[in-house]
Amino acid sequence: MPTVMITGSNRGLGLECARQYADEGWRVIATCRNPGNAIELARLKGELEIHALDISDHGQILSLADSLREEAIDLLFNNAGIFDPSPSQLVDIDYKAWENFISVNVMSPLMVCATFSDHVAASDLKKIAIMSSKMGSIDDNNSGGSYIYRSSKAALNAVMKSLSIDLAPRGISVAILHPGWVRTDMGGPNGLIDAPESVNGLLKVIKDLNLKNSGRFYSYDGSEIAW
Ligand SMILES: NC(=O)c1ccc[n+]([C@@H]2O[C@H](COP(=O)([O-])OP(=O)(O)OC[C@H]3O[C@@H](n4cnc5c(N)ncnc54)[C@H](OP(=O)(O)O)[C@@H]3O)[C@@H](O)[C@H]2O)c1
Repeated sequence: MPTVMITGSNRGLGLECARQYADEGWRVIATCRNPGNAIELARLKGELEIHALDISDHGQILSLADSLREEAIDLLFNNAGIFDPSPSQLVDIDYKAWENFISVNVMSPLMVCATFSDHVAASDLKKIAIMSSKMGSIDDNNSGGSYIYRSSKAALNAVMKSLSIDLAPRGISVAILHPGWVRTDMGGPNGLIDAPESVNGLLKVIKDLNLKNSGRFYSYDGSEIAW
């Protein structure tokens, strides 16, 4: 039975990923900031263990990696992320907040990947998935604005492309993913799809991931997105 570790798995897309992998019979290492409040996650059926992980806490990443040092992780799913709901127009950019976005959406996922790369390398499937966003595509930017969120996901893409090249010699493949515009707390009620549909598609993309298509940017529907 393969093992998946998911960040930000207490709600939204992370919770749905945990649900669908558990339903498929995977062993799920679900991480979230406050396990005590993760009521819905704790109710999932299947082989599931929950660990505290704030991805912006380097010490916590290191100590979780150490406590799981005997574990082989087939799929490391970097899902946790933050969104800037303000329009982030040129006149009102919050430069201080921007630093936090780069920290949580870019540096922290890389830290998680780097720290857990040995666990992934020790597994059979050797896969890493990154929850990015089409808003990080420069090619797709036709509406401007959203400086903070767009730049954080564009930087995440650049970082994960490098990671895919650097980890290939160890047999690890990396998928950079757009989940669609999804009705979660982040996506809001006007999203175009719900979390089960998004995650169902993402799981298919991850199933097809291999060293040949590693380091590419895919939508949940399997189509490739231009950088
Ligand atoms: N929904 C969409 O339409 C959409 C579109 C494109 C990309 N995405 C991406 O998909 C991912 C999940 O989005 P979502 O819609 O499920 O968002 P969500 O409902 O807002 O959930 C975000 C998750 O990330 C966690 N998180 C935030 N900061 C964290 C930190 N420092 N350490 C650990 N966990 C942290 C949250 O935990 P807490 O509960 O503790 O806050 C929560 O579990 C994000 O990376 C997002 O950018 C979403």
